[in-house]
Amino acid sequence: MCGIVGYNGELDAKEILLKGLEKLEYRGYDSAGIAVRNEEGVTVFKEKGRIADLRGSVDLNVSADIGIGHTRWATHGVPNKLNAHPHQSTSGRFTLVHNGVIENYHLLQKAYLKGIQMQSDTDTEVIVQLVDLFAKEGLSTVEAFRKTLSLLHGSYALALLDQEDEDTIYVAKNKSPLLVGVGAGFNVVASDAMAMLQVTDQFIELRDKEVVLVHKDNVEITTLDGRPVERKPFKAELDASDIEKGTYPHYMLKEMDEQPGVVRKIVQEYSNSLGELTIDDNILEAIKEADRIYIIAAGTSYHAGLVGKQYFEKLARIPVEVHISSEFGYNMPLLSEKPLFIFITQSGETADSRQVLVKVKELNYPALTITNVPGSTLSREADYTLLLHAGPEIAVASTKAYVAQVAVLAIAAYVTGKSLGKGEDFDLKHELGIVANGIQTIVDSKNELEQVAEDYLKIARNAFFIGRNLDFCVSVEGALKLKEISYIQAEGFAGGELKHGTIALIEEGTPVFALATQEQVALNIRGNVKEVVARGANACIISMEGLNEEGDRLVIPKVHPLLTPLVSVVPLQLISYYAALHRRCDVDKPRNLAKSVTVE
Ligand code: G6P
Repeated sequence: MCGIVGYNGELDAKEILLKGLEKLEYRGYDSAGIAVRNEEGVTVFKEKGRIADLRGSVDLNVSADIGIGHTRWATHGVPNKLNAHPHQSTSGRFTLVHNGVIENYHLLQKAYLKGIQMQSDTDTEVIVQLVDLFAKEGLSTVEAFRKTLSLLHGSYALALLDQEDEDTIYVAKNKSPLLVGVGAGFNVVASDAMAMLQVTDQFIELRDKEVVLVHKDNVEITTLDGRPVERKPFKAELDASDIEKGTYPHYMLKEMDEQPGVVRKIVQEYSNSLGELTIDDNILEAIKEADRIYIIAAGTSYHAGLVGKQYFEKLARIPVEVHISSEFGYNMPLLSEKPLFIFITQSGETADSRQVLVKVKELNYPALTITNVPGSTLSREADYTLLLHAGPEIAVASTKAYVAQVAVLAIAAYVTGKSLGKGEDFDLKHELGIVANGIQTIVDSKNELEQVAEDYLKIARNAFFIGRNLDFCVSVEGALKLKEISYIQAEGFAGGELKHGTIALIEEGTPVFALATQEQVALNIRGNVKEVVARGANACIISMEGLNEEGDRLVIPKVHPLLTPLVSVVPLQLISYYAALHRRCDVDKPRNLAKSVTVE
C-alpha cells in the first residue's frame, strides 16, 4: 500500500528518493511521484504506473538535496497523474505526501476551503490546502501543521515541504506506519526501513500524533500539543541481501525456496538451551488462562488462522474462533469470560486487524500478535508478540510467511498442550525437521509443477480447490494464491460442500485441485473428485505418501497428519506461480493488490 520516503541531506535527493520508492514497490501501488526543493522552488514529478515510468519523466538537471516521494495505491480518486502524490496547495507553497484515509475530509473542505478550487479528487489535497490556509492566516508552518493535524479524523502518515524553508521536512503519523532514519549530516523518512537501508540502518520509531521536524542535522519530536519528546534510534536488523532478489527472477520464487530454511530457523528460535520447543513464559500463561481464543486476521494470515484453530483445539484443548478482522471489529460476537485475542499478521500493519486490536485493548482483554515484523504497530500495541523469523517477504503474494505462521501456531499450541498435560504426544521438533525436508523435495520439483500449471491452467477461466478438514484450510489458501497472481477466478471449498450448489459451474475441462492428505477423510474426498470428474472436470489429485493411489498427479512426502498444511500448500504456491508466468502476469506486484494494507 502507499509508501513514503523523504531525504534531507547533502546528496542528490532525486536518486535517493527514487531508489527508496523502488524498495517500497512491493507494497503495491498504481502511481508514484517525488518533489524536490532547491533555491528555485519545489519541483514535482509524478506519473501513473511504475517507478520506471516516473524515472523517465524526472528532469535530471534539477538538483536538490531535500525532497519527498510517494507510491500511491488509490483510495480516493482513480489512479492517474492528477491524483498521484505529491499534492501542492494552490499557492504552490506547500507540497505533501500522505498515506492513509482522512475520514472527515469532505467536512473539512466544506468548513474551511469553500473558495478553493481543488486540483485532485483526493482527501490528501485537503490537508495541504489547510496548512496553506492557516499559514496565510499568520501561523508559522509548524503551527499551521499542528492545527491541521488536530482537525484530521482518520489515518495518516505525512511528509510536508515548505517552499520557504530549505531545511525541514514536516512529518506526522496516526495509525499508518512511518519511521525517521538518522545519519551523519542527513536524515530521512520512510514507511519502511527497507526503503532507506541504502543510506542508514538507524531509525527512530514515531508514535501516533507526534509532530516531527526532520532537519539535515537533527530531528525534533514533539507531541501534538508541543511537549518535546526524546527517543533514541534503534538499529534495523535487516540484511540488505534479504531484500535483494539475487539471481532469482522473482521475489516470490526466492521466498518459496526459502521455506525449508524458515521452518528450521523457527525451530531453532523457539528451542531452549535443552533443545526443547518453548515459548515465552508470560505468553504461555496468557494462553493457558484463556477459556477461548479469538484469532483475528486477514487474507493469507486468516487462512493460517484456520489451521491454528485446529492446532489449539487438538493439541491444547482450548476452543478457538477464527474471524476476519474487517468483520469482527464492527460485529463482535458474544465473547467468553476469559478470552485471549491472537492477531496473525505478516506485516503487523494491517489496518483491519489493528482496528480490532484497538477495540480489544479498550475492553482490557489480553492480545498476542504473531508477526514477521518486530516493532510493527500490531506488535507494539499488543501485550505479547511471537515473531515469525521468516525474513522480509517482498512478493505481494504471501508464501513463506504463511508457512511460518502455521509453524509458529503449531509450536505455541504444542507447548501449551504439553504444559497443560493435554493433547497429542509426539515430538513436534523432530516432525518439523521432516516437514522442512518435505518442503525441500517439493521446491526441488519445479519442472513437474510447471508442467501441472501448463496442463491444468493454461487456458482455464476458473479453477476449484477442494479438501476436507486441514486440507480444506489449505484449499482456500491455494485458491487465493492462484487468484492473486494469475487472475484466474478460483475458489476453495470443503470437498463435501461443492455439490451443494457450486458443482453447477463444473464443465468439460474445469480444473479441480483436490488435496488428499488426511487419512480419515481420504476416501470421502476421492468420492468428491469422482463427482466432479463425472461432470467433465479435469481433476488434479495431490495426495500424501501412504495415502496415494494410482493416477494421483502429485504425491507429497509423508509428514505428521497435523503438519500437512506446511507441505501441501507449497505445490499450490508453485502451480500458481507458473500459471501466472504463463499468462505473463507481474508475479511480484499483482494488479490492484497491496502487500501491507494500511487502510480499512
Ligand atoms: C494484503 C496482502 C495479503 C495479506 C493480507 C494480510 O491483502 O495482499 O497477501 O495476506 O494483506 O496481511 P498481513 O500483513 O496482516 O498478514
